[in-house]
Amino acid sequence: MHRVVTIDGPAGAGKSTVARLLAGRLGWRFLDTGAMYRVVTLAALRAGTDLEDPDALDRLAAGLDAAFPPGRVLLAGEDVSQAVRDVAVTRATRFIADCAAVRGRLVAWQRAVADRDDVVTEGRDQGTIVFPDAFRKFFVTASDLERARRRHEELRAKGADSDLEAVLADQRARDARDASRAIAPMRPAADAETIDTTGMTIDEVVALLHRKVLPSP
Ligand code: C5P
Repeated sequence: MHRVVTIDGPAGAGKSTVARLLAGRLGWRFLDTGAMYRVVTLAALRAGTDLEDPDALDRLAAGLDAAFPPGRVLLAGEDVSQAVRDVAVTRATRFIADCAAVRGRLVAWQRAVADRDDVVTEGRDQGTIVFPDAFRKFFVTASDLERARRRHEELRAKGADSDLEAVLADQRARDARDASRAIAPMRPAADAETIDTTGMTIDEVVALLHRKVLPSP
């Protein structure tokens, strides 16, 4: 297996941005595992699959034609990078995240990537379940309010009509579900280092993680 850096943490902690930039600095591959759960969700919503039927979800995932070129998500060749971030998709990801059979498939994809390349991977269960022997593990978080503000500002910057209270409520509900899930709940691995990014800029977080992954001699 190649070297793996895992970055787990709650919604809106900036994990993908930080993981992508860190991977770029290291020259490693970036793996956005949330995008995998999201693309299965989008495909299920589009196909009208019963989200409460694990067998149907597993069949859908088995036949899924998804690809993750750098920074993009493709579903049957269509660029769905924006579509997978819709509020409706975000809310429905819980059905996919709770489905053991689909999780098994996604974990196999994730491990296959790390068989080929050094990776910086982000998600909820990367340090605990998927890569227990990772080279370095981080749990990246920030205060509830700061995470919700970042997401709210990102939505407004895209011209969306966003309400901070609603973003905060959705985020709390998603974090509570992710942390209490029966399989692969979100929690820091015993050997992960927790980084609280409240008040830090993205560049500061990336520089800090970079120093921790490859300390200068
Ligand atoms: O990180 P992101 O917000 O894109 O993840 C969407 C959802 O996918 C999470 O709320 C979680 O339920 C699920 N997920 C997961 N395990 C991962 C990554 C994401 O269960 N490794």
